[in-house]
Amino acid sequence: MQLSFAAPSLNSAGALVVGVQGDGVFTPSAAEADKAAGGALKRAVGASTKFTGKTGQIVEVLAPQGLKATRVLLVGMGKGEDFSGGSAERLGASIVARLYTTGTAAIAFAIDAPKGSKLKPGALAAHLAMGAKLRSYSFNHYRTKARDEYEPTIKTIVVGTKDVAGAKKMWTAMDAVADGVFLARDLVNEPPNVLYPAAFANRAKQLSKLGLKVEVLGEAEMKKLGMGSLLGVGQGSERESQLVVMRWNGARKKDEAPIAFVGKGVCFDSGGLSLKPGASMMGMKGDMGGAAAVTGTMRALAMRKAKVNAVGVIGLVENMPDGNAQRPDDVVTSMSGQTIEVLNTDAEGRLVLADALTYTQRKFKPKFVIDLATLTGAIMIALGNDHAGLFSNNDQLSARITEAGKEVGEPVWRLPLGDGYDKLIKSKIADMKNIGGQYAGSITAAQFLQRFVENKTPWAHLDIAGVAWQDGEQKALSPGWGVGWGVRTLDRLVSDHYEK
Ligand code: BES
Ligand code: MN
Ligand code: ZN
Repeated sequence: MQLSFAAPSLNSAGALVVGVQGDGVFTPSAAEADKAAGGALKRAVGASTKFTGKTGQIVEVLAPQGLKATRVLLVGMGKGEDFSGGSAERLGASIVARLYTTGTAAIAFAIDAPKGSKLKPGALAAHLAMGAKLRSYSFNHYRTKARDEYEPTIKTIVVGTKDVAGAKKMWTAMDAVADGVFLARDLVNEPPNVLYPAAFANRAKQLSKLGLKVEVLGEAEMKKLGMGSLLGVGQGSERESQLVVMRWNGARKKDEAPIAFVGKGVCFDSGGLSLKPGASMMGMKGDMGGAAAVTGTMRALAMRKAKVNAVGVIGLVENMPDGNAQRPDDVVTSMSGQTIEVLNTDAEGRLVLADALTYTQRKFKPKFVIDLATLTGAIMIALGNDHAGLFSNNDQLSARITEAGKEVGEPVWRLPLGDGYDKLIKSKIADMKNIGGQYAGSITAAQFLQRFVENKTPWAHLDIAGVAWQDGEQKALSPGWGVGWGVRTLDRLVSDHYEK
């Protein structure tokens, strides 16, 4: 799908989209189109009993006389004071959703901001484009039949705006972020027989085209580094475990300490010998959602040439049961030197992250480290599919992540850490065990990770098990399954605070 910006025009042949304010008043372009159509648009709105201009409402008029357009969409924009960049994104997305497989190939937006909105014309256009692009994503390349039914028919969207230059300037960066989101979605959506650790690592390597430095460590190298915790998880798999390090050096000061992102990349989580029941195993191809978000973010930062030094580290493993698999009761030694009693092989994400965190801190001495992981089912019990869980040793970093998430529509909710929880992972024979008790499962998982944070490095952990993948109906900007959650938040965190 091709997106472009141009001076507003009501003259296009495909679908034409104009806005109606929350008070029912037609925006200038809508009024003009109505005039050209001899009042047909106002009549249509009058005939549709419920349309008032509220957010999300759409009236569609086919082939009105006086206009070239094959259909006109009148879209509700709600109250002007409430109309933000996020509203524009949701609006752009809802238009694409509406016309997705209708056969419409060309869409022209002639959308004016509703009165009272602070959004400037260039920003309005860029945010409309962002929403349209994010919603246009499809993942259909495994379909050999009935592909037409699912494949979007939209080929071009022209976003009309009075400030073409301003819109284009904003769009360059946003487009890069959207591409990062798409990469994260692709990685999550790929089936696990295709996207095993080495295959994921290869996809990451392809990013070196964008100027990222990508290094891949195999099992022999990780063994030398003492990563007994990560390696134990992949021990029962035929597929080799990998640690991928992606670096983007865009800061003006080349030797500035980087910021760091770490991702859980369990390409398939069967549970290992603590085998999951069949129904819970479905969807566990997505247990690399954290690694996907980190990879997508690194792609976005490189594509938009962010002025920051950043490193992304992902631990890629497959958690499988076989004769060589790790046993419940095993004790492993992590790279940090701390020993772990593995009482449940299904609590594997923390074992992968432990070594990835140690490696990242020791090698790069980052300003902060944020890990993302589809870590616990318990986070869905606590927060459902709406908020990601946030855990941190640092109030400033927490506040910044929370704010960035709010701005891009990926809300997070902070949960507590503390000694009272930490003691739940004491082991009878080792430094710690990899599970807590029945309660506070997401918190004990985070306590485990915190034991691998060194020298009070500002650290945050995002448990994204509830938000990384979901059905399209639940998530406005994504058609479903892999959401690419986290790419936009991390990118926004960087642009708000860490680019110099
Ligand atoms: N990958 C799962 C967490 C998960 C569950 C993500 C459902 C998405 C949907 C993780 O590795 C896991 O199995 N966690 C266990 C931990 C338990 C054994 C302490 C869980 O949540 O049940
Ligand atoms: Mn598991
Ligand atoms: Zn897992």
